[in-house]
Amino acid sequence: MQIKSRSFLLLGAVTLTASSLTSLAYAENFDREIEYRQSIMHILGWNMKPMGAMLKGKIPFDSASFARHAKDLETAASLDLLSGFPEDSNGDDSDARPDIWLDFADFKQKFANLQAASKALNKVASGTDQAKIEAAFGDLGKACKACHKAYKD
Ligand code: HEC
Repeated sequence: MQIKSRSFLLLGAVTLTASSLTSLAYAENFDREIEYRQSIMHILGWNMKPMGAMLKGKIPFDSASFARHAKDLETAASLDLLSGFPEDSNGDDSDARPDIWLDFADFKQKFANLQAASKALNKVASGTDQAKIEAAFGDLGKACKACHKAYKD
């Protein structure tokens, strides 16, 4: 019994050391969080660009492809973006402004606006009402810009 509980203690100590080392490593840089949030942004941009090009007539309008991009963009916007923005997680590889953590409630609201706008576009994207599609796409673009203007370099 005695030996058992001693090795248990030892195991506990080793585990503790490992986990404090891990948290130390993460406290010093936010590389993983920055990569995560930029990855989501890349997926948003990946889908936004061809939809914009179709609406501007730069490439032929393809309803199925447009609807697919709208759906994927809504999916990407439904990911937990905010977990990629822990407090004061800026860094050399990031364009995030420190203002994000001065008014995180507003940042969250701007993210909620993005989610609502991407949902609204996905709803009309596979339909035939071009005016509705254009309006919803415009609102989505505004949701991107509103956040970038305030919080991205
Ligand atoms: C809630 C705020 C917010 C919204 C909404 C938002 N972005 Fe961003 N975006 C950011 C921030 C902050 C950065 C900088 C992230 C970093 O570098 O750490 C960024 C960066 C980017 C980047 C550059 C990524 C990189 O690797 O440097 C792209 C592309 C992008 N956003 C596209 C979009 C598109 C397209 C939309 C709308 C569909 C959008 N974003 C909506 C906050 C937002």
